[in-house]
Amino acid sequence: MVKRLSYSKQWISEEDIQAVIRVLKSKRITQGEEIRFFERDICKYTGAKFCTCVSNGTAALYLAARALGVKEGDLVLTTPITFCATANAFALCGARIDFIDIDPETLQISPSQIELYIKQTGSVPTVVIPVDFYGISADLVKIHRLSRDYNFKVVEDAAHSIGSSYSYNGEDIFCGACRHSDLSIFSFHPVKNITSAEGGAVLTNDETLFRCISLLANHGIERDPNNFEFFSKDQIWPYELHELSLNFRLSDIHAALGRSQLSRIDLFKRRKQRLFRAYRERLFELEEKEILKLPIWPKGQDPCFHLFIIRLGTKSPINRDELFKGLTKYGIYPQVHYWPLHLHPYYRKVYGYKEGKCPIAEEFAKTCLSLPFFASMEIEDVNFVCATLKKLLLS
Ligand SMILES: Cc1ncc(COP(=O)(O)O)c(C=O)c1O
Repeated sequence: MVKRLSYSKQWISEEDIQAVIRVLKSKRITQGEEIRFFERDICKYTGAKFCTCVSNGTAALYLAARALGVKEGDLVLTTPITFCATANAFALCGARIDFIDIDPETLQISPSQIELYIKQTGSVPTVVIPVDFYGISADLVKIHRLSRDYNFKVVEDAAHSIGSSYSYNGEDIFCGACRHSDLSIFSFHPVKNITSAEGGAVLTNDETLFRCISLLANHGIERDPNNFEFFSKDQIWPYELHELSLNFRLSDIHAALGRSQLSRIDLFKRRKQRLFRAYRERLFELEEKEILKLPIWPKGQDPCFHLFIIRLGTKSPINRDELFKGLTKYGIYPQVHYWPLHLHPYYRKVYGYKEGKCPIAEEFAKTCLSLPFFASMEIEDVNFVCATLKKLLLS
């Protein structure tokens, strides 16, 4: 039987299963203490002061936008090489979304292009959202510096990068720690570095933002008269609606899975770094022949890689779509991350964005392919994928 290798998948252990069963047998399967423990563990791991776990990464982005008070007409800048949720969450709050091209080497949003945009248009964004694409930290230090110079907020979309760290002034800083952003978000979807099935988190070091997010994650309902100016202080059952929101809570069942997964993140990280090296070594020959371009491991970063993305080089005998189809015949199911967001019908229709707006991102999107890459993958699987690539690209 041909083994099916998808681009990513979860790795569930017996401990994960037992953790979920433990909560299922407990008194509280939602709004219990498991959520608080998961939030505490995330803070301890990343170094961020505050964390609110929510129903998914999209909800986390939406709550970040709400907490920052993003409103009709505010300008929000992000990369076109991301999942639609990064921009949609802010667009739903009324923001005007514009896209900044990526750096051709790092594939992350380009800080110099952000500055050029501000200088050329005279428009200062309310928020910039760098995305830690494929598990590498975006250029957060430079973007943070720009945020000080021009006075905008930074939300780090760290959906790909829980477990990754970057070096700053000799210190290792975890993605999501909010050392160079106002807020950060994680996603715990099964394809991500750790999973809670569905799930996400918003992190910050700012207590006011944290309180606001906690409130908005739970309809806008406040139960603690000490936190707010309460209208009905003497009520026997304190319960007041202070903001307009919806239910974005994570359940304790999901939190138990996420927490158990987080306890194994260092193992996932080590294995993914090993797979990354193995892919690079085996495909180096194709890079030398300019058939492929391999992803980089930037200096000063210790990534928990989310994806392994190759690009077809100028000497490739076939195009990306042909390679995609060729691989599926061997049971290898790659993926494209991402078709540039500004070229999706919604953003074309509403903003009139078209080809040529972000040329580097557009060129990248035509040639990129995410190969199978997940923590439970074995080196033999990497060997099989690389041998198949060579069969398709060297014949
Ligand atoms: C960069 C990025 N941001 C946000 C999200 C949204 O996360 P979720 O699927 O948990 O809603 C994703 C998920 O694919 C993502 O890749």
